[in-house]
Amino acid sequence: MDPVNGNSAYRESWASTWGERIERFVEQQLADADSGHGVEHVVRVVENAFGLANGTDADLAVLLPAAWLHDCVIVPKDSPSRNQASRMAAARARQFLTEIAYPEERLAPIEHAIAAHSFSARIPCETLEAKLLQDADRLEALGAIGLARCLMTGGAMRQRLYAPGEPFPIGRQPDDTQQSVDHFFCKLLGLHRTMQTESGRAEAVRRSRFLVVFLRQLAIELGYSVSEVDRSIESALADSPDLVYIMEWSGV
Ligand SMILES: [Fe+2]
Ligand SMILES: [Fe+2]
Repeated sequence: MDPVNGNSAYRESWASTWGERIERFVEQQLADADSGHGVEHVVRVVENAFGLANGTDADLAVLLPAAWLHDCVIVPKDSPSRNQASRMAAARARQFLTEIAYPEERLAPIEHAIAAHSFSARIPCETLEAKLLQDADRLEALGAIGLARCLMTGGAMRQRLYAPGEPFPIGRQPDDTQQSVDHFFCKLLGLHRTMQTESGRAEAVRRSRFLVVFLRQLAIELGYSVSEVDRSIESALADSPDLVYIMEWSGV
């Protein structure tokens, strides 16, 4: 397989050959998706993936369709088959791409990238394209978009925003099945450490700073001190090599 360099000219020609059909399929598949996982999420993941691939040898003929199709099967977040969602999306993507006669040699790497993108699938990324897609999708859980999606998902699952009495977990375990703010401490603040590519990690660290600023402002509005919330943030960041950089920022 010839690696295709990440460049806009290739992307344009790919889009004119395949883009419209794939987009139409994704729109149909995601017609009933919740607001955090609809077509806008997919469009942002495609942009993230394209941006992260810049300057790498990533094969865009794999990465672009994998990004477009990565969530093409909807499985609700609280469903027992949730950890199968990315495998189901990979199989459905392969079926659809076969129907539209997408180049056969790209199908297996596309399928792998889609299957491996999700946390809960626990499939190690074996290719650069799989790593880039996973990072592109994980960036969606950080920054302003990540904050909005976290709270929207929590609201849809009828969660509380924070635990009354102790909004920032210090003397208790965080529980993100009960309150959305705990999701920062269970998952989001550690996410930058799971990134697979250098460009993905750098952007994840930048976006993590915004989450910290949000938590501090929330603490102030709820009558807590910044040093109190910082203690729980620092323990969630644990021994992250980026702790100082993430914590030193105080706003846009
Ligand atoms: Fe996904
Ligand atoms: Fe996604």
